[in-house]
Amino acid sequence: MQVVVLAAGQGTRMRSALPKVLQPLAGRPMLAHVLETARTLGAAKICVVYGHGGEAVREALSAPDLAWAHQSPQLGTGHAVQQALPHLDDDRITLVLYGDVPRIGEATLRRLLAAAEGTRLGLLTVALDDPTGYGRIIRDAAGQVQRIVEHKDATEAERAVREVNTGILAAPTALLRDWLGRLSNDNAQGEYYLTDIIAMAVEAGVPVVATQPDTVVETLGVNNRRQLAELERSYQRDVADRLLEAGVTLADPARIDVRGTLSCERDVRIDVNCVFEGEVVLGEGVHIGAHCVIRNARIGAGTRIQPFSHIEDTTMGAACVIGPYARTRPGTELGEDVHLGNFVEVKNSRIADHSKANHLAYVGDADIGQRVNVGAGTITCNYDGANKFRTIIEDDVFIGSDTQLVAPVRVGRGATLGAGTTLTKDAPAEQLTVSRAKQLTIAGWKRPVKAPK
Ligand code: UD1
Ligand code: CA
Repeated sequence: MQVVVLAAGQGTRMRSALPKVLQPLAGRPMLAHVLETARTLGAAKICVVYGHGGEAVREALSAPDLAWAHQSPQLGTGHAVQQALPHLDDDRITLVLYGDVPRIGEATLRRLLAAAEGTRLGLLTVALDDPTGYGRIIRDAAGQVQRIVEHKDATEAERAVREVNTGILAAPTALLRDWLGRLSNDNAQGEYYLTDIIAMAVEAGVPVVATQPDTVVETLGVNNRRQLAELERSYQRDVADRLLEAGVTLADPARIDVRGTLSCERDVRIDVNCVFEGEVVLGEGVHIGAHCVIRNARIGAGTRIQPFSHIEDTTMGAACVIGPYARTRPGTELGEDVHLGNFVEVKNSRIADHSKANHLAYVGDADIGQRVNVGAGTITCNYDGANKFRTIIEDDVFIGSDTQLVAPVRVGRGATLGAGTTLTKDAPAEQLTVSRAKQLTIAGWKRPVKAPK
């Protein structure tokens, strides 16, 4: 089996500089969803037909297993499939998919492919309450598919037919090649219609077998932002249903967005309006508070992420308490029972078990040991404007509030830094280090007063 993906349409109604098939659904280009499905089916070849301005499509999704066929000008769906023919093997079935029909499912396509086995033409059709605009499936008195008539070419009686062409079909390639070579554009739109091969198959005595999708949403195409938004919601609702079935508690299944993969162990609870991106793994009993954004993270069992936290490229151990309003940036590795409180930012740092930074701190390029207390307002000064340097804080250190650690610098095991210290040299283990101007009281000093007017 081989796949042709039509992706040459301009998508004018999206009103965007981005080609239509690159518009994201659940964080990935629509075309990437279709390619993933084609790969899951085990396609021996995948050829993408791309159009004018479509170089960006090629660049965005190029992969060694993809062939690309340029279609210019765009003379219709039949003409589009013709452009892919040089890449296709005659002895395989060709499946035609669409870059702007991103939710087509594997099970539906397996049924369609089975229908096309043994020199048949498989056609995916659906019955719609409002078939306006679609090609209609015309059957004979015995119920056999005879041909497809496009809406614009159809008579009043034909337009009353509710069974429509989804556009997705599977055909023996040698025959497809022959039929495409005989298409004409003598129709209402002056286009080479792929749909005209149905009547040719019937004429050649090739059985046409119509199959139906598991759900209509799989066959919906995207021509405008409203349709894209509707598919996004349906996608997210399906993700939410799968999470619920897997035992995850969602405060509101309509208010979660997963743009990637979210894997959850037992008894995970997720409050409203959380966004998960990339690959996220939540351990047993993890609780995610409302309004969190979590991208590429592994979160250990029992950890609580409190509301409005932002977690990116981070791993954290069990029983941590993060936020509210915490931010971990790429390269953050937290041990067990680490606490990060409000307005604490951590970047490219390791913080070991039982350490805490509970308020207003910046920890960048640091290695922090176990049982360290990072006081409020502490900042690692890791950047001199050109270079970044590391701060090392060993086990059992206590850092007083409002301390600046000017890297590179090391704080020895068990050391204490007095509040307000600007540390520019290493602090020895077990001792108090403090840099602070001596406190003065000026006796008899008077606050200036304004002169009377
Ligand atoms: C097509 C079908 C119609 C079906 C409908 C389902 C034909 C003639 N008609 O109609 O029976 O009900 O889809 O949505 O096939 N494309 C190209 N190059 C072209 C023309 C189209 O790549 O020259 C691509 C478009 O990007 C799009 C797809 O083919 O992804 C369908 O094209 P579109 O013009 O939307 O076809 P419809 O007229 O909607
Ligand atoms: Ca269309």
